[in-house]
Amino acid sequence: MSQIITLHSYRGGTGKSSTAANIALLLASAGRRVALVDTDIQTPALDVMFADTMPAAHRSLTDYLIGRCEIEDAAYPADAKAGHEGFFLVPARSRAAGINEIMGRGYDVGLLREGFDRLIDSLALDVLLLDTHAGFNNETVTAMASSDALLVVTRADRLDLAGARESMALANRLGCGRLSVAVNMVPDGMVHERLRDNVESVYGTRLTAILPYASELASLAGERHFSTAYPQHPLVAGYRRIISDVSNGTSGYRH
Ligand SMILES: Nc1ncnc2c1ncn2[C@@H]1O[C@H](COP(=O)(O)OP(=O)(O)OP(=O)(O)O)[C@@H](O)[C@H]1O
Ligand SMILES: [Mg+2]
Repeated sequence: MSQIITLHSYRGGTGKSSTAANIALLLASAGRRVALVDTDIQTPALDVMFADTMPAAHRSLTDYLIGRCEIEDAAYPADAKAGHEGFFLVPARSRAAGINEIMGRGYDVGLLREGFDRLIDSLALDVLLLDTHAGFNNETVTAMASSDALLVVTRADRLDLAGARESMALANRLGCGRLSVAVNMVPDGMVHERLRDNVESVYGTRLTAILPYASELASLAGERHFSTAYPQHPLVAGYRRIISDVSNGTSGYRH
């Protein structure tokens, strides 16, 4: 059975796109059919992250939403070099479909949900992964509402944790499937047990993974994906934990 997994954060820069890219790669290397959709039309990232391993994108989610193509036309083989045949990326924008066009014209939000379903069917996907813009805009809320599993990515600081509470509250109102939280960029020396207790008591949801801050990620400069470059790193172990927890349907939803 296919599954839609959405990554969300209330504040920006928590690591949604990096986490989504690496989870997608790990799933694909395990033989799952995966499509990663960049629903972050305002500040896309995935086209840059996969620029070296996919063809130049002439079609995108934006082209689809403004009626220029079918959603399937915007799904590109994303990691041809590694031979992951069942791995696709739908970039947020193309050169032809800029931010001004979609902001100026608007679009029918129903098309988004329809597009997700079409991708699952026509690409015979096991997993559809949705990366989102931080906060709550149309695309993000639709992606959240479409998800079977919602992963809220947060840093461990007070501001971010307070924001994650907003995300969980909205997710509950939307009736999202299973909710889980990953705390990212956790600095060395932070007491994991205290962090876990804090998150679990505040959100009523099991903490799926504590992802360490990895200085190696900063020095990669986008040349390779982290999980490919550092397969033994504790951060990759955390990504794997998210996969087994979220994609097997065992996340700690307690409401
Ligand atoms: N565990 C980590 N350790 C160190 N750096 C990280 C980690 N996770 C992500 N980063 C870095 O943090 C920055 C933000 O990551 P990313 O773009 O994935 O966040 P985002 O939540 O998608 O941001 P936005 O809200 O802008 O879409 C990037 O430079 C990324 O390399
Ligand atoms: Mg992002």
